[in-house]
Amino acid sequence: MNTYQKSCLCVDADLGFCYTLSTKLMSDTNAPVEKVAGPVQDLKDMNVLVSLCKQRGFVFPSSEVYGGINACWDYGPLGIELKRNIKELWWRSMTDREDVEGIDAAILMHPRVWEASGHVAGFSDPMVDCKNCKARFRADKMDADKLAANECPSCGKKGTLTEPRQFNLMFKTHMGPVEDTANVVYLRPETAQGIYVNFLNVQQSARQKIPFGIAQIGKAFRNEITPGNFIFRTREFEQMEMQYFVKPGSDMEWFEKWKAERIQWHLDNGIRKEKLRFHQHGDGELAHYAKAAFDIEYEFPFGWQELEGIHNRSDFDLGRHQEFSGKNLQYFDEAAKEKYIPYIVETSAGCDRTLLVALADAYRFDGDRTWMQFHPNLSPYKAAIFPLMKKPELTEYSDRVLADLKKTLRVTSDEAGSIGKRYRRQDEIGTPFGVTIDYDTITNHTVTLRHRDTMAQERVPAEKLGEILREKIAHWKV
Ligand code: GAP
Repeated sequence: MNTYQKSCLCVDADLGFCYTLSTKLMSDTNAPVEKVAGPVQDLKDMNVLVSLCKQRGFVFPSSEVYGGINACWDYGPLGIELKRNIKELWWRSMTDREDVEGIDAAILMHPRVWEASGHVAGFSDPMVDCKNCKARFRADKMDADKLAANECPSCGKKGTLTEPRQFNLMFKTHMGPVEDTANVVYLRPETAQGIYVNFLNVQQSARQKIPFGIAQIGKAFRNEITPGNFIFRTREFEQMEMQYFVKPGSDMEWFEKWKAERIQWHLDNGIRKEKLRFHQHGDGELAHYAKAAFDIEYEFPFGWQELEGIHNRSDFDLGRHQEFSGKNLQYFDEAAKEKYIPYIVETSAGCDRTLLVALADAYRFDGDRTWMQFHPNLSPYKAAIFPLMKKPELTEYSDRVLADLKKTLRVTSDEAGSIGKRYRRQDEIGTPFGVTIDYDTITNHTVTLRHRDTMAQERVPAEKLGEILREKIAHWKV
C-alpha cells in the first residue's frame, strides 16, 4: 500500500465509506469521495444556529459568566472575522466609487441634534405591560384582536394589560460629573445624523459636487422594548449607512438606482435570490422623514423581516439642522449658480443583521453533515491546511504552505483529530477549501484540494495552490 492509499484509508475510517471506491475516486479529478447522506435542508430552527455559533466561536452571549445580559451578544474569533469581511465588502462597495466619501463621526453628539432630527419628540414605540405576568409588548406588533380584548398574549389573562404608552428608545446618559437635565446626552440611535451635520465639511474638504454620498459604519443604540431573535434585534448594534445628496427633482431616480445597487450587493455576497424581496412602506408605515421607503427583507426561519432600509429622506434632515443650528447648510451649485438644500437618498443596513442573514442563509444540513455555505468572500478562513498525520516531514511541509498562503489569503491549519473530523470542523465554520498534505506531497509536490460544498477532491501542484485558490474565489459562482 502506498502512502496515498493510506490517506484514503484514514478518511474512510472516519467517515465510514468504501475504501476501494474512495481510492479510485481520489485519483479521479473532481470526483466526490465522501458520503452524501440525504436531501439538503436549510436552517429551520434558530436555536440550532445559536448553538453552532457558540460552539464554533461566532457569537457568545454577553457577560455569560454572570448569567448574560438580555439581547447583548459578543462576537468570538470567527464572528469577528465574518463581521470584518462584511464591513470591508460594504465599505469597498461604497468608497471605491469616486462619488462616495467615508466618515467616522462621534457616537455622542450635541443634544440639539436629536431635537432637530425628531428623535426626542418622536422616536418612540407604544408599550403595553401585563400587570399579571409582567410581560411587556409593543402594541403596534401585538395581535390586534388580543389588544382589543385586553388579553395578555403571554399568560392569557384578560383585563391585565395597561393602556399603550409611548416609550422613547434613546439611551440617555450625562456628560461630565453632574447628573442634571442640562447635561443629558444620548447614545446615537442611528449613525446618519453624524453624516448630516458633517455634510458641508465633507463636501468642501473632499471637493465633491452633488450628486455625491457619505458612508459610515458605526455603533448605534436603541432601548428596544422587545429585542430578540438572537442578533436580529438588539439594543447595541452596528449600522452601515450611506447618505447620498442629490439635486431636488433627481431624488426618485437616485432612489431607484440605490435600490438596485443594494439588493445586488446582497446577491453578490451569495445570499439566495428567493430569500430576498423588497417591501414598500405604505403611507401608515413611512417614517417622519421619509418621502418614499423600501425595505430589503430576508426570509428568516421566523418569517420575512427587514434587513436594510432604502429611504428618500427629501430635504427634511438638512432643512431641520439648518433651522435648529441657525447655520446655512445650502449647497452652492457653481455651474448652475444656484443654492439649494439637497435631498438625501439613504441606504441603511444593520451590520449584525447582515451577519445573521449570512449565517442563516449559509446553513446546510444533509442529515449527517453540517456546513456553512458562505461565499468565500465572507468565510472567516478561505482555506484550511491539514497535514495528514502529525509527522515532522508532513507538518513542516504544511507550515511552509500555510506561511506562503498567509501572504495573500486568510487561512488556518488544523492538525488535531482524524482528517474526516477536521473536514467536518472546517465545514461547520464555512471554510470553502481544505488542503491535505500527505506523503505524496513530499515526493511529487502535489496536495489534495477538497471543496466544501461538493466534497469533491482534486490533486493540484503545491506551488500553484495560492494562485488556484485566488482564481477559484475570484470566479466563485453564486
Ligand atoms: N437611519 C435610518 C435608520 O436607522 P432603521 O430602519 O431604523 O433606519 C436601519 O434602521 C437598519 O438598522 C435596519 O434595517 C436594521 O438592519 C438595523 N437595525 C435597526 N434596529 C436594530 C436593532 N435594534 N438591532 C439590530 N439591527 C437594527
